[in-house]
Amino acid sequence: MCCSQAFTLLTFLLVFHLHTIQCVSRIKFTNLQCVALDKPFADFAYCKLKALARDKVALSLRVKLFQVPVNNVSLNVESFKKYNGYRPYLVNVTTNFCDFLRHKKRLAFLDIIFQFLEKYSNINHTCPFDHDIIVDKLILMPKYFSMLPVPAGEYRLRIVVGAYNDWKAVVNIFVQIWE
Ligand SMILES: *[C@@H]1O[C@H](CO)[C@@H](O)[C@H](O)[C@H]1NC(C)=O
Ligand SMILES: *[C@@H]1O[C@H](CO)[C@@H](O)[C@H](O)[C@H]1NC(C)=O
Ligand SMILES: *[C@@H]1O[C@H](CO)[C@@H](O)[C@H](O)[C@H]1NC(C)=O
Repeated sequence: MCCSQAFTLLTFLLVFHLHTIQCVSRIKFTNLQCVALDKPFADFAYCKLKALARDKVALSLRVKLFQVPVNNVSLNVESFKKYNGYRPYLVNVTTNFCDFLRHKKRLAFLDIIFQFLEKYSNINHTCPFDHDIIVDKLILMPKYFSMLPVPAGEYRLRIVVGAYNDWKAVVNIFVQIWE
């Protein structure tokens, strides 16, 4: 375990203990932004939210990969919480995504996200990726976060995806949480 991972885990445990009483009761997407940084490599065919009911907002996106197979994927996931503006909050992990896919339990935070993300996407396999990346009508449910009690508020999750040591895309996911 490298230092930053150990630190993330420590922060995670600390926050977990401070908030053991609080639980997510409602959660939904409020906004979504996708930016392709290297369009000859990959671009978004679509990236959208659709409100289905009061607490049901579905996230769908499709990334077209133009230089397949992709054998080297890195990921930086950083979470922010809104006070006056969005400030870094709790998590900032950078990882070799191909390694993560082989050993998911090593990164607790990503594993929690991946456990529900994989149900709505076609990324549940090890590298390489030689097809479009699709997330289809992902809806957040409070039960997905039973392992991650977080205080009520507005959050931003910034996911930066890279390949071959070069950042290729940024996805900003805005979420509101009620306790
Ligand atoms: C989060 O991690 C990325 C990549 O290591 C780094 O560029 C960024 O500055 C970090 N953010 C904060 C708030 O430390
Ligand atoms: C994803 O892959 C893992 C390992 O192959 C498997 O255990 C899991 O059931 C898969 N999940 C889905 C939703 O297909
Ligand atoms: C693959 O990505 C990792 C970082 O995730 C990097 O250290 C490594 O050098 C990359 N390999 C190639 C061939 O680009």
